Amino acid sequence: MSAGAPGTGETVAGEAAVPRHVAIIMDGNGRWAKRKGLPRVAGHREGAEAVRRTLKAAVEAGVECLTLYAFSSENWRRSEEEVTDLKGLMRFYLERELEELAREGVKLRFIGEPSAFGPDLWERLQLAAAKTADNDKLILNVALNYGSQQELARAAQILAQEVADGVITPEDISVEKMGEVLQTAELPPLDLLIRTSGEVRLSNFLLWQSAYAELIFLDLLWPDFDKEAFNEALSQFAGRQRRFGGR
Ligand code: FPP
Repeated sequence: MSAGAPGTGETVAGEAAVPRHVAIIMDGNGRWAKRKGLPRVAGHREGAEAVRRTLKAAVEAGVECLTLYAFSSENWRRSEEEVTDLKGLMRFYLERELEELAREGVKLRFIGEPSAFGPDLWERLQLAAAKTADNDKLILNVALNYGSQQELARAAQILAQEVADGVITPEDISVEKMGEVLQTAELPPLDLLIRTSGEVRLSNFLLWQSAYAELIFLDLLWPDFDKEAFNEALSQFAGRQRRFGGR
């Protein structure tokens, strides 16, 4: 495949490039609801509709993997009511969308520690992942109870244990080795990271993986995100020259 062709994740001047792996920090649900005088849960509900639209746009564009930050390790600090609403919405979304996701060839997987959501939701998530495991059109990777620092600390523990067990030596620990013990090990390298709502920070999301990703910060609130906004981000990506530290 030539550089710049869809799916290479590389951008070359004058050629359209489609990122292989796009990650999104879906921010602004609460502000969207507040502006409309609605409860926060209405913003999350509308946010779930934006997820549907974005997934469709990503499949159409030929993106291989879409990672969505749905619940961070820090989101437990929100009110019990909001956490319950978010869990309920995930359950509802899974029930309503699973058949279609399976039919459309979407492979669902998760990063983070979703078992903390309790056995009921955890079981449903695992079943959904199993049902879609053989699909290969697009990987929908949902970050649930995810924190990048926690993921990195866990990776360090795994490697430390391998050293303690004599499986590897400290010198064997390399960038590649680290990549192998992260939860994203089976995914394509991250090409593009988008954050909505005008905030300009990574908020403990994919810190290692975004080392060479292109970053796009949009003023749009997540519930207003649509196919047009997604395609606009893709064309900004295509216009960037990626040098990966070279010249
Ligand atoms: C950030 O907005 C959004 C979240 C913490 C939750 C994201 C959840 C969804 C989009 C819905 C469910 C997801 C799936 C995958 C079905 P915020 O509440 O921090 O907004 P604010 O900063 O304006 O308060």
